[in-house]
Amino acid sequence: MNISEIEQIAKLAIEKIKTSQLCELENLKTQYLGKNGKITQILKSLSQYSVEEKKLIGASANKVKSTIEKEVENRKDFLNEAILEEKLQKEKADPSQVFAFPFQKGSFHPIMQTIQDISTSFKTLGFSVAEGPEIEDDWHNFEALNIPESHPARDTQDTFYLEGFKNLLRTHTSPGQIHVMKKQTPPVKVIVPGRVYRNEASDASHSSTFHQVEGLSVGENITFKSLKETLAEFVRNFFNLELDLRFRPSYFQFTEPSSEVDIQCFFCKGKGCRICKNSGWIETMGCGMVHPNVFKAVNYDCEKYTGFAFGMGVERLTMLKYGIDDIRLFYENDLRFLKQFSV
Ligand code: PHE
Repeated sequence: MNISEIEQIAKLAIEKIKTSQLCELENLKTQYLGKNGKITQILKSLSQYSVEEKKLIGASANKVKSTIEKEVENRKDFLNEAILEEKLQKEKADPSQVFAFPFQKGSFHPIMQTIQDISTSFKTLGFSVAEGPEIEDDWHNFEALNIPESHPARDTQDTFYLEGFKNLLRTHTSPGQIHVMKKQTPPVKVIVPGRVYRNEASDASHSSTFHQVEGLSVGENITFKSLKETLAEFVRNFFNLELDLRFRPSYFQFTEPSSEVDIQCFFCKGKGCRICKNSGWIETMGCGMVHPNVFKAVNYDCEKYTGFAFGMGVERLTMLKYGIDDIRLFYENDLRFLKQFSV
């Protein structure tokens, strides 16, 4: 067998080695280049040749030697790469088979749940639900509600004015009454839930952004008695409990007479705690009989119609119902808190 035949056979043998036979490559190398390898033997036998032959045979044997070495290395690299590729293919995750996270159902925020509960309660009492804008002008938020220009609520300390002082973020849902009355003639029976803003520092019971539900009933025979009955019925319905209500005389420009409504503290059952500031009662609503000046602002006949209005704090009612002692929990979006309200 001449050198080039040996080279051909070696090359073929190297080509045939598969990934599962990687260690065979070393054996093959030994067969040709080892101590007793075919090429080694040729090199060892050079002494029997003439100087000219030595040069020729020696050179081609050395060339084949380095070719085989190179071929073995190349094949090794190729096989190692193939092995890696095979492994990657096998271990590749099929995304269609994997759920990255267990499926979790979303849920309404507790404040939204309370607004829905309040709405349901009032719907059963014959009220409809309306919405008003969060950005109001001075007329809707103050003027039409009989709040004079000099009133402290208009102070920038309490009201977030928008650029130019023409518009503002509504400080209560009462402008909702005005929007409804401008669109509708009596009888009116509506609630207006929504977000309101006040420029004040936040603590366990105050927040600069919170929610109210406004209520308005206008007709020919609406009395303070109707107001008390409506609110008592609502509280019974909302808490599913007999809780006492306390009507304290109060003052609002847009109602006369006016009253503040306290509900017995559901958290401490009237004993006194942090939520009720140790009084046993929680102030949850303002209410009263619609002031004639408000009717005048919306062109309602104040000789013919009377009405009651109320505004309740959604956060306060939610805190009372579920025994929550810090209003800030509603806005921190801590899932440990929110998950307790998922339904
Ligand atoms: N708008 C009043 C407030 O924000 C609440 C209120 C509404 C009082 C309707 C009387 C009638 O405090």
